[in-house]
Amino acid sequence: MKIAILTSGGDSAGMNAVVRSIVKAGILKGCEMWVVREGYEGLVQGNTEAATSVNDQVKSDDQQPVLQQEGVHPDKQLLHNLRFGDGELLKDGTTEFVGGRTLKGRYIVRVGWDDVRGWFSQGGTLIGTARSMTFKTIEGRTAAAFNLIKEGIDALVVCGGDGSLTGADVFRREWPDLVRSLKDQSRITDKQAEQHAHLKVVGLVGSIDNDMCLTDLTIGAPTALQRICEAIDNINSTAYSHSRAFVIEVMGRDCGWLALMAGVAGGADFIFIPERPPSAQPWEDEMCAEIGRHRKLNKRKTIVIVAEGAHDLDLNPIRAEYIKDVLTERLGLDTRVTTLGHTQRGGRPCALDRILPTLQGVEAVDALIESTTETPSYMIGLHENKVVRVPLMEAVAMTRSVATAVKEKNFDKALELRGAEFKE
Ligand code: F6P
Repeated sequence: MKIAILTSGGDSAGMNAVVRSIVKAGILKGCEMWVVREGYEGLVQGNTEAATSVNDQVKSDDQQPVLQQEGVHPDKQLLHNLRFGDGELLKDGTTEFVGGRTLKGRYIVRVGWDDVRGWFSQGGTLIGTARSMTFKTIEGRTAAAFNLIKEGIDALVVCGGDGSLTGADVFRREWPDLVRSLKDQSRITDKQAEQHAHLKVVGLVGSIDNDMCLTDLTIGAPTALQRICEAIDNINSTAYSHSRAFVIEVMGRDCGWLALMAGVAGGADFIFIPERPPSAQPWEDEMCAEIGRHRKLNKRKTIVIVAEGAHDLDLNPIRAEYIKDVLTERLGLDTRVTTLGHTQRGGRPCALDRILPTLQGVEAVDALIESTTETPSYMIGLHENKVVRVPLMEAVAMTRSVATAVKEKNFDKALELRGAEFKE
């Protein structure tokens, strides 16, 4: 089997460990392994250039040549550059990736065992990611199908959030139609159409938000949480020194997991999450009463954590700057806002974000090998400390229904869906 892996959507720590694990597990099981650069966009772009001229391409763009070793196949060189992105090959900062450049024409690249050596400890995603608009169109998906068939690839692993995994399942379901249309246009032969009648798909959840149903943990969430905890520890000491209040905004999109867990781990006075808005209206009274009580107990510092998607019972957004104004004006607290932003997402994965993708990667390859036309696309999850396969579309549908429950102000249902996925 020829398996291609791509990472899609917002990056998360552990995505490289996913790629490494799948490449190695695939090779061990006799598969040919490929990576797709720049997410679905790379699938759409495909390989338009012959893999012979990395330097020539860069030169023709009137740029400094990349450092290419004599006699090294360009695909190999590309992977080498990815791997040593900060290292010896890039001393003058002239490679296509680190210099912010993208090598045109080679998006689907064959990889070997050594190409992914050491990737488990690297942050972000070395093969690149994107939020592709073209893949959302039928023309884009037709081009993607053609590019995969051209390289003889028959299985796809996608690591990303719910949007990316939905894309994978749509692609798989549409696949027979895409193949038929390519055959009708004579872009592929009858033999190719027959050989590629089905696409096997498996998803792994790479997201710092931990917002996917039917899995206890998403890849990257533990690292982001760790990063937030470290930031809160740092803020705690300066807050204590000045007896200040800090409002810390954390990521998570529509999900409050990072905020809630960081609040528990970092000792917050008040937490705002989308799934459980403050019950009192106006919520300002509730927050001030609670924080005022802490202050009366002689607490020198105040930490409020607000999820970026937080809102009140009427779904009006609750912003960090506004919370700061309330604390300043009502309680007279010297208050600062810290938005942690992308520091939560980047950087080296923690141990769990190396172990989880490694185990899930092996399961993903097994799922592909065992997959038949009857089996659904699987998502590899974690349930009660065990790596599990769950139907991808069920997980996505359930995740969507959390958002719907919040929109309908049915917060109890949203919480139940987030926490009760495996209850029968
Ligand atoms: O989904 C991951 C995430 O980091 C969210 O927490 C956040 O809302 C979003 O992506 C930020 O996206 P971008 O990096 O495109 O600004």
